[in-house]
Amino acid sequence: MMFKFWFSLFLFCFLSQTYAADPIAGETRYKKTCVNCHGPAGKGAASYPKISGNDIAYTTEKLETYRAGKKIGPNSGLMIMMAKSLTDEEISNLAAYLKDAKYNVND
Ligand code: HEC
Repeated sequence: MMFKFWFSLFLFCFLSQTYAADPIAGETRYKKTCVNCHGPAGKGAASYPKISGNDIAYTTEKLETYRAGKKIGPNSGLMIMMAKSLTDEEISNLAAYLKDAKYNVND
């Protein structure tokens, strides 16, 4: 009984540490390169799509597709290049950040 409790607690901590996405880290990563094309907070710029406000699953799936070198739209070449070096952790952090990223004029 007690064992089950502590084991569950351990599992919970272990899993939440491993998989909890960190939107703050996602924002930092976003500002390194992504912002150059997609604009502040993923609001989109000229021919670069708006990428904020989408479900985590949606963004994750797109980034994993590009990382695998597969095309989505006509300009996928750029994204395939950008996504190639992303880790699973960076993808989940970026997706968590982009879901609620809001454009702020002071950014
Ligand atoms: C050099 C410019 C450029 C950079 C830098 C860039 N992107 Fe993109 N991104 C694009 C273009 C162009 C597309 C549309 C590609 C296509 O036609 O498939 C796109 C598409 C996307 C999409 C899919 C949008 C949709 O709804 O289909 C996501 C998500 C995305 N980018 C995220 C990112 C992230 C996260 C980063 C930083 C790691 C990043 N991009 C960096 C140019 C860029």
